[in-house]
Amino acid sequence: MVEYTQHDAPLVDAMKKHIKKRTVRFDVPGHKGGRNDKEYREFVGEKVMTLDVNSMKPLDNLAHPTSVIKDAQVLAAQAFGGHESYFMVSGTTGAVQAMIMSTCKAGDKIIMPRNVHRSAINALVICGAIPVYINPGTNDRLGISLGMSTKEVKQAILDNPDAKAILVNNPTYYGICSHLEEIVKLAHEHDMYVLVDEAHGCHFYFGENMPITAMAAGADMAAISMHKTGGSLTQSSILLSGERINADYVRQVINLTQTTSASYLLMSSLDATRKNLALHGKEIYRKTVELAEYAREEINKIGGYYAYSHELVNGDTVYNFDTTKLSIYTRDIGLTGIEVYDILRDEYNIQIEFGDLGNILAIISAGDRGLEIERLISALKEIKRLYAKDPSGMFDHEYIVPKVVLPPQTAFYAKKKSYVLDEAIGKISGDFVMAYPPGIPVLAAGEEITEEIVQYIRYAKEKGCLLTGTEDMNMEHINVVEM
Ligand SMILES: Cc1ncc(COP(=O)(O)O)c(C=O)c1O
Repeated sequence: MVEYTQHDAPLVDAMKKHIKKRTVRFDVPGHKGGRNDKEYREFVGEKVMTLDVNSMKPLDNLAHPTSVIKDAQVLAAQAFGGHESYFMVSGTTGAVQAMIMSTCKAGDKIIMPRNVHRSAINALVICGAIPVYINPGTNDRLGISLGMSTKEVKQAILDNPDAKAILVNNPTYYGICSHLEEIVKLAHEHDMYVLVDEAHGCHFYFGENMPITAMAAGADMAAISMHKTGGSLTQSSILLSGERINADYVRQVINLTQTTSASYLLMSSLDATRKNLALHGKEIYRKTVELAEYAREEINKIGGYYAYSHELVNGDTVYNFDTTKLSIYTRDIGLTGIEVYDILRDEYNIQIEFGDLGNILAIISAGDRGLEIERLISALKEIKRLYAKDPSGMFDHEYIVPKVVLPPQTAFYAKKKSYVLDEAIGKISGDFVMAYPPGIPVLAAGEEITEEIVQYIRYAKEKGCLLTGTEDMNMEHINVVEM
């Protein structure tokens, strides 16, 4: 048995050894190292094609890891402070779904904020668990939803003592954290699992003075987007579990839906990124925070924009704030976030993470330099000068309190009929509607389609949001449940 440390990357090393051997390939993938398509091979690079292999004994198997993948997962669990880690090649979507499906069965209740990512509600469609939603706090000026109030979590627990789990966002897309430790304490006192969507919190595990991590707070499972703020390849993600969770059962659940041909490019990227963050994470995120703080200060000096931070902390629905997030309120200059997002890309060649109806989010990472930050600041200055207009009449909130009538699974699989949006008002939706990103449903299957929701959809479409979720790709029609 080899003794590894965080300086090692066992899966990366096994792959290096394997490609050096130039093994003759009579297995899949059929491109055989990219020999089938010269043009594509030259486009992505020969090395990428060579490294795109399938599982074999020397490289282990993600569905049943016993050697180098297992070792890499042990190192990841140690680095994140988890009891077990599972490499995911189905994004954090797969990790969120695995958390829910490992702890809840059909008919079981799960307490969750309604501003969850679509992956969480989709998991309910798949497994038939029943949501008990908590309306998140909201910030009326910014129009964004916040974290969960611990008072409301406590009430939901008391009202639903049979709930199996509580799901928490740590942090939200905008950088808002709930009081995770208190929620874990309350949940465990009532024998409920705590599942944490940490899609946007990978850096909490490696930076200094960051909000508390799910594992440090004693949560039972956490889904972490290594590919978002960690730096691994898109789609690679990590699931963590604590000691109360049966890891072998989690693996079985993951294998219900995850591919049997896991990408070695993605898995090795997780191994390499874990090593990089374990060795250099403190420095990487120190620099990230420094750049984000500088950008915030300069953007707030422009006037009209509001780049928010710790001042939002209120001890409850904003228990902490992730200062690496450069979230900026834009509505006071008469522009929606999505408009600023589009202008930045089309006119200034700057791609930011997302824009909603009143805010934008720029992801800052150690890959950024002062130069890029200055470009963003000066583009925002110019956008204000050239495009600012009267903000009156703008839609001023992202979160609409849902009217839940049916569980998501019942509604999604019900007999449905398609209606023109306006004619669907008052009926129960059989579809989901969300702007992507951030991918938080404004309407979920089983909820009443209200006039406010239809207005939101029309407004968001007019402003250029990418709306997804309905069967009708143009979102002119929506499926409603036939009662
Ligand atoms: C809060 C949250 N959870 C889960 C996910 C799913 O992550 P992935 O895109 O890796 O599947 C996202 C993606 O944006 C997210 O924002």
